[in-house]
Amino acid sequence: MPPIITPFTGVLGAEVTGLDVAALSDDDFAAIEAAFEDRSVLVFRDQDLDDAKQVAFSRRFGALETTISSNPGGEGTNVAIFSNLDADGTLIPPKDKRMVFNVGNQMWHTDSSFKPVPAKASLLSGRMVPPEGGETEFASGRAAWAALSAGEQAEYEPLIAVHDFLYSRGLIDKTLLTDKDRRELPAVRQKLVRTNPVTGARALYVGAHASHIEGRPVDESRALLRHLIDFVTQERFRYVHRWRPGDLVMWDNRACLHRGRPWDERKYPRVMHRTTVAGAGPSVEDGKPLAA
Ligand code: OGA
Ligand code: MN
Repeated sequence: MPPIITPFTGVLGAEVTGLDVAALSDDDFAAIEAAFEDRSVLVFRDQDLDDAKQVAFSRRFGALETTISSNPGGEGTNVAIFSNLDADGTLIPPKDKRMVFNVGNQMWHTDSSFKPVPAKASLLSGRMVPPEGGETEFASGRAAWAALSAGEQAEYEPLIAVHDFLYSRGLIDKTLLTDKDRRELPAVRQKLVRTNPVTGARALYVGAHASHIEGRPVDESRALLRHLIDFVTQERFRYVHRWRPGDLVMWDNRACLHRGRPWDERKYPRVMHRTTVAGAGPSVEDGKPLAA
């Protein structure tokens, strides 16, 4: 039976049913890839995943990143774990540093925009999902780009934003990251308008990691970045995902922003495993990080 791909009503997202991502023919995979390019967010229902299966499926889209995670076990591997369940099975208190660190995911962002080669795609598997809250929201930077006037497009097209993980995490708590993190995660430059290397589709490329616009005063550039995030995240460009057990959600970091929503962390476990597909290259010609 071929997979059933049903686009959601808005500008992004489609539901995929009737397939097991761990046992996918090349033809079905081609259909999934095309739907991913077209819809930016895919929701695979009823998946029975473990990390090995998730990694194997994710690799079909390209090489994987090693991801930064505040959870031991996720570090330095291809799987980042976002979880409020401790090793002993109890709920980690919201004030715990590991939880505070993950609050960063509740700001609109795009994954790994603070790396010299930003991510192409992320695949998030809901291993334990709360019955209420904890949704993940998406907003289409591509639809937003298309909705701009020709004058606005011409203004934004040449701009470069400086993305910096220490800046974005610093918005939550200045003590979360260390001098070692600073050395390992120097700020990087990214085009404000990111182009899909395969389809040529353009998208506004902003989010929480974007600290300022190169060559513009910080205050003025932060106001512009704020304006652009507000523009991209308008209702008409959004999809909100309400997690069901067995969901695997995949998104295009080149084309959309996302954020997690809060939930009652003292009541419900939420265990999410993420794999991240690396981008094809830097968004700017000289993809070298900036000096610390
Ligand atoms: C992520 C992320 C949000 C969430 O996995 O990259 O931002 O809803 N997650 O957990
Ligand atoms: Mn994210």
